[in-house]
Amino acid sequence: MTPHGQLPDPASDRDELKRLTVEVLGHEGSYGILVGLVMELVEILDRSAGFRADPGGEVVEGGIRSGGGLAISPAQAALCADEPTRTAVFLRGVHDAISKAIATPRETQQAVQVLYAGSGPYATLGIPLMTLFPPEQVRFTILDLHPVSIQSVKAIVGRLGLGKSVASCVVADACRYVIPEGEIPAVIVSETMDAALGNEPQVAIMRHLLSQAPGARLVPESVQVDAFLLDTSREPERIEPDREDSIPASSPDRLPLGRVFTLDAPTIGKWTTLTGDRLPAATIEMPAAPGPHYEPYLFTTIVTHGNHILRTHDCGLTSPRAFPGEGKWATGDRIQFHYRLGTDPGLGWSPAGAPAVS
Ligand SMILES: C[S@@+](CC[C@H](N)C(=O)[O-])C[C@H]1O[C@@H](n2cnc3c(N)ncnc32)[C@H](O)[C@@H]1O
Repeated sequence: MTPHGQLPDPASDRDELKRLTVEVLGHEGSYGILVGLVMELVEILDRSAGFRADPGGEVVEGGIRSGGGLAISPAQAALCADEPTRTAVFLRGVHDAISKAIATPRETQQAVQVLYAGSGPYATLGIPLMTLFPPEQVRFTILDLHPVSIQSVKAIVGRLGLGKSVASCVVADACRYVIPEGEIPAVIVSETMDAALGNEPQVAIMRHLLSQAPGARLVPESVQVDAFLLDTSREPERIEPDREDSIPASSPDRLPLGRVFTLDAPTIGKWTTLTGDRLPAATIEMPAAPGPHYEPYLFTTIVTHGNHILRTHDCGLTSPRAFPGEGKWATGDRIQFHYRLGTDPGLGWSPAGAPAVS
């Protein structure tokens, strides 16, 4: 807002969005400053949007459970933008993937096409970058299951004069979307996930879209889920947005039990011939717990692209999750994991050699 309570003019907002995007991409200093930069960036998207969350409504109200998992409500999707480290590291990953796609020799002079599946009302991982890459170089197709979110994205793009950077804005289920001929993307972006790849359709979306564009760079480039036996009394609290320091003082004790599941292009390639509602995952053997507070947990690491990585406790998506099921595990137990597809996706388990439990 200006000192007179009016909206800044759209051209100033667009210039400011560009400045903030450059700052967020390059920021290496304090967490407090990153919080401020991301909040200002999101404010510009918010004041340009047609979207307003119902102030009396529950934030989760209005989520849609599609065939691949939960499409969280537009209000909840808007809130994702407020997680500074998540937003910054994803934006850096998308920027890196696009820059590498531009630098890769292509058969046509066409702009690099980016398919952004699951934009939410702000298209936070796309619109800021439109201020940096001209439309002759990069064009975005933007998809969401919620019509309200797509209307909002159109309003932002229109107000900020970024329409030439958008090939189309589509209300669609990304798990069923058929990429039109001639629009094969060089980069696919989707942040439709929760910790340990539970609940939301990230796996189904990436699998479906990559099968139609096998050469595309994925953002995130990989999501890894690892099992640890950890001392719950020594784990740090999740970082709160108003903290000045990015790493809370703590000395966690975690015993690695192994990688349980990976989502990346090579792994998706191995699923091509698989049918059915399950994907393979690893078997973990439970060691002796060194003390009374040790519990098995799943940790998520997200490589958004290149060396841009979200690690444990950086954001909600990488917070540790207790093992699925209510099991109390004994030393030497072997746990066979699988990934459950469908409306309620996530890692399931069974004792190795026994029938699977979801
Ligand atoms: C976690 S939010 C992320 C929003 C935004 N991209 C960001 O990073 O801030 C996920 C978004 O994906 C959308 N979504 C989830 N499943 C979808 C599906 N099957 N097809 C299209 N959009 C989907 C949701 O509606 C939601 O807007």
